[in-house]
Amino acid sequence: MVETLPGFAGEMIARVRAPLAQAWTLPVAAYTSGEVYAREEARIFRRSWWPLARLDQVGSPGDYLSLDLAGQPVMVVHGHDRKVRVLSRVCRHRAALVAEGAGNRKLFTCPYHSWSYDTGGALVRAPLMEGAEGFDRAACNLTEIRSEIWEGFILANLDAEAPPFAPQVDTYTRYFENFRLSDLIVARTLEFEHGWNWKVLVENFMEAYHHIGVHPETFEPAFHARDSRVPESDGPWSILHMPSAHPDEPSILPPPPGLEDWQAKDLFASVAFPHFLLGIQGASVLWYQLFPKGPDRLSLKIHICLPFWLQEAEGFEEIVEGTAQFATAIHMEDIAANDSVWAGLSAPLTGQGRLSPLEKSIWQMNQWWLDQMTGV
Ligand code: FES
Ligand SMILES: [Fe+2]
Repeated sequence: MVETLPGFAGEMIARVRAPLAQAWTLPVAAYTSGEVYAREEARIFRRSWWPLARLDQVGSPGDYLSLDLAGQPVMVVHGHDRKVRVLSRVCRHRAALVAEGAGNRKLFTCPYHSWSYDTGGALVRAPLMEGAEGFDRAACNLTEIRSEIWEGFILANLDAEAPPFAPQVDTYTRYFENFRLSDLIVARTLEFEHGWNWKVLVENFMEAYHHIGVHPETFEPAFHARDSRVPESDGPWSILHMPSAHPDEPSILPPPPGLEDWQAKDLFASVAFPHFLLGIQGASVLWYQLFPKGPDRLSLKIHICLPFWLQEAEGFEEIVEGTAQFATAIHMEDIAANDSVWAGLSAPLTGQGRLSPLEKSIWQMNQWWLDQMTGV
């Protein structure tokens, strides 16, 4: 059975569903409508795997990191039993938040009435509760959220019924096998707040067609828009492959051992739907961690990830600084484009636009998005 969406006439959906060479963008309401966003929250965000942290960000027992997973305050915690868990941060007494930010703790003591939880989420202290008849402390542990570790990323999903992540991205995982993504550490994080729908950012990330307009002096000379290609996908993911325009020049960083020459020099942008974004070039990976905050708002962390073994290399700090400056410069160029798109999408006369065959990743994502949003 197919459901309708507000603002989506039948012919609009048919244009999105058309083969790539005939396809159009999503209708404008997909980006601007509060009703569509509410359905995305229910159908997509609360059923999807979200990358929350890298293992090295919670490397020692007691380390924790707070985040928001589709409206649920959560924390990634490295327990003193050496297990990494994703726990709700909502106190089981009267729902105050037991932690904010990041750090290292033996106990999480709620600031409201001082109930204390250990790093596995067990309630170990609930003062002045002696008179509460039948109070079962063991039934008041912090709720554990389903989590999975993939290539050193800790992912979580609010939906207990959702299929596990790794089998869905098996082909994708093999595509990047040589890159040793599990070796990465987060060397630096850049933070941004943006006033756009989350799909504006994902779409911008997933096509190189805009190199000609937006990055004429940065990306286009190095990775020509016309050469970009997108392999077939057999799951909820897409890979954009941008071959190097100068394959004979040496790579900037030493590539991971075992990487083929073209793999070390070409640029790849990948997405596991809906918004797990990686920009991969040889040893360096930019992880765009996206948090939708409403139809017209998002928070973004750009994590500069490098292999742990590069930390020992001379000039590591300069490598991190140089990568951070480059990532910021590129993102500034993209911000201008996305601001412009958002102004256009918000205008009353705007309708669907034609996709270029170079925008195959957007087309792939649109098919998946419609499946989630209109399938029952
Ligand atoms: S709300 Fe946490 S102890 Fe009362
Ligand atoms: Fe860009």
